[in-house]
Amino acid sequence: MVHDMSYNTVSNVIATWEKVRQVKDYEHVVGTQLFQKFFASTPNAMTVFGFPKGSDPSSKDSLENPRFVKKAKWFIRVFIQMIERSLDMLGPDSELLTEILLELGQRHVRYGVDTSYYPAMGKVLLVVLDDVLDEKTFTPQVRKDWEEVYTALYTDMIEGHNMVNV
Ligand code: HEM
Repeated sequence: MVHDMSYNTVSNVIATWEKVRQVKDYEHVVGTQLFQKFFASTPNAMTVFGFPKGSDPSSKDSLENPRFVKKAKWFIRVFIQMIERSLDMLGPDSELLTEILLELGQRHVRYGVDTSYYPAMGKVLLVVLDDVLDEKTFTPQVRKDWEEVYTALYTDMIEGHNMVNV
């Protein structure tokens, strides 16, 4: 639950995201990697973003199709904003944050998000962070902090899914 996160954990996550933002063209670099890796691991999630069922995120056909590229750009914008808005929410008032996450989870049911997509996305996010940050920044401790924060966020969101699905 979000209540249990320590100040250090949260501030390490926020500080490392600041480093990501310093990477040249970070939205494009990070977003493209998230896009390719997430849909390679979880192709079913593509329909949430309006891609036709069974489309291949890395095929030449897809990447040369302007409608596909437009959707991919939209996905990239949504995901980067999602990360940044979530980090902005990590303030001192964790009671309020839980309320927000429950509602956010309920909205994600409407977006068509399956609960299995959260851990899948989390794994990919860690791979991408490891790739774009150097070892001194993305230390084993920082990796744990990201895991903790991401898991806490989606655990509350899944509670929200369950409120809709009962
Ligand atoms: C810890 C995990 C996640 C967090 C904290 C999060 C957070 C957010 C936030 C803050 C928004 C902005 C809109 C709103 O407030 O309703 C949003 C939108 C959205 N999210 Fe997530 N999200 C997470 C995981 C996911 C996953 C795994 C998917 C799909 C695979 C997803 C798909 C979407 C979609 C489709 C939208 C709507 C975009 C739009 O129409 O503009 N989210 N998310």
